[in-house]
Amino acid sequence: MNYRHHFHAGNFADVMKHVLLCRLIRALQKKEKGFLYLDTHAGRGGYDMEVAATGDTHTRRPEWPEGIGRLWAQSPEAVPAPLAEYLALVREFDRDAGNITAAPRFYPGSPWLARRLARLGDRLALCERHPAECAALEGELGGRAGVAVQEMDGYTAVRALLPPPERRALVLIDPPFEAQDEFAQIAGALRDGLQRFASGVFAVWYPLTGRARVDEFFAAVRALRPPPTLACELTIAGEQAEMKMKGCGLLVINPPWQFDAEAAPLLAFLAEALAQAPGGTGRVDWVVRET
Ligand SMILES: C[S@@+](CC[C@H](N)C(=O)[O-])C[C@H]1O[C@@H](n2cnc3c(N)ncnc32)[C@H](O)[C@@H]1O
Repeated sequence: MNYRHHFHAGNFADVMKHVLLCRLIRALQKKEKGFLYLDTHAGRGGYDMEVAATGDTHTRRPEWPEGIGRLWAQSPEAVPAPLAEYLALVREFDRDAGNITAAPRFYPGSPWLARRLARLGDRLALCERHPAECAALEGELGGRAGVAVQEMDGYTAVRALLPPPERRALVLIDPPFEAQDEFAQIAGALRDGLQRFASGVFAVWYPLTGRARVDEFFAAVRALRPPPTLACELTIAGEQAEMKMKGCGLLVINPPWQFDAEAAPLLAFLAEALAQAPGGTGRVDWVVRET
């Protein structure tokens, strides 16, 4: 359990994940009935990006300048409308956390974004296994109406908290990919989650560090005979580039209606805005087609 999201907060992968997360939440909110937002690997809820550069035990090159840093100065008119809402939320978090400089410093995590967008009838279950991260999350969002913070294993939470009484749910599975068998653990959680609640929207973030591993994961997902499933992917460099993680994806089971059409231009915009080497793209593909 060495992973600390601090070092990655606000990087290109966070931007992609959080832009799409906001769109998923907005899509679920097209219906009046409230839903459960289950964040299985919630993190601490918000990050001081200066800590990434000057952390107590590590000094690293921060990743946010090539992520949120690239979008920070963009005017709302210069970005696609759905991205403008995400950017406004990030700026609000940064300002409210006390940043008075022109550069971004504080970056929100998925729980904060979800809480900020939640309506009265929407409920948040935020699970984090790391005690210190969970304590920080409790400090950030604990005790708020409709929010439950739990120090627990996120995969156990999928089994324990589904089906939700609301009969509507968005489940974000965003693990650190430290474990060799992370994809297998995700597939197991999806199997159990779909058995308990086949109509839930499940969104799984994954790194693009090797196509073969991702394709193997997709095969495991297809073997579950899931409902329609979409893969949204962003690469910020081509295959020939040296960097280890050239992109990332969000697998969405039961995507809201027309989510594919909304995600495609957003990913294309991000591929251009966040490119680190030639050859990056945004793409949206059905892993299991709508019938
Ligand atoms: C990628 S970070 C989450 C970031 C967060 N979802 C966001 O977007 O702001 C992954 C988190 O999962 C936590 N974690 C690792 N293994 C876990 C497990 N089995 N169950 C729950 N949380 C876990 C880590 O401590 C880390 O905070």
